[in-house]
Amino acid sequence: FNPGVVVVAAGRGERAGVPEEGPKQYRPIGGMPVISHTLSGFVEWAGASAGIVVVIHPDDEALFRDALSHVRQADGIQFVYGGDTRQQSVLNGLEALERANPSHVLIHDAVRPFFDAPLIERICAALKAGDNAVLPAIAVADTLKQADAHHMVAGTVPRAGLFAAQTPQAFDFAVIFDAHRRAAAEQRFDFTDDAGIAEWAGLGVRLVDGLADNVKLTFRRDLAMADEKLSQNLI
Ligand code: C5P
Repeated sequence: FNPGVVVVAAGRGERAGVPEEGPKQYRPIGGMPVISHTLSGFVEWAGASAGIVVVIHPDDEALFRDALSHVRQADGIQFVYGGDTRQQSVLNGLEALERANPSHVLIHDAVRPFFDAPLIERICAALKAGDNAVLPAIAVADTLKQADAHHMVAGTVPRAGLFAAQTPQAFDFAVIFDAHRRAAAEQRFDFTDDAGIAEWAGLGVRLVDGLADNVKLTFRRDLAMADEKLSQNLI
């Protein structure tokens, strides 16, 4: 069992609202950039025996180097440039990680800094038990509505059996690398997560319990809330 980690951080984070503040993965929460928390989490876990590859945007190299300065034992962390979509960025990360000959890979969004070691252990336990694809997820708590083109409710989606997908998502390395390359070869660039590619490739994807705190920092208010929680030691 020799897992590597790919952390994708090449997005522009436009949904966070204020472009001049820069991509959200480099915004400070609790005194350091979001991605510094994320990378520290993987370094502390110490299980990434095949290494950690971070996928960044070419414009962000200075921001990334600054973020790394907040991470203890950052020397095993490499970076590569990403692509136009998250999917392409992941593929670039997998190509870089291949040289380390990993048995498995954990693929994670830089903008989820609040995963914990027990979550990673649940995921790795499923890999060790033989699952090729593992997805942490949380049962949907809200009632879900379908909207029509006029912003009127067109229906209620039954939430039983529905889960919200998180990361890190974890895979047998060769299997997900092959699925990613096939998706690219077939010009399928519409996948928003890697479990989606695994499903498309016909793999069984194991659900394990996600973590409520493991939120994706998407909007400005998410960053403000994360900063507040860290300052009160709530996370
Ligand atoms: O855009 P989305 O919110 O799905 O981004 C999820 C993660 O994927 C973020 O960490 C973002 O930096 C990353 N990403 C990327 N390359 C892209 C787009 C998104 O690495 N082209």
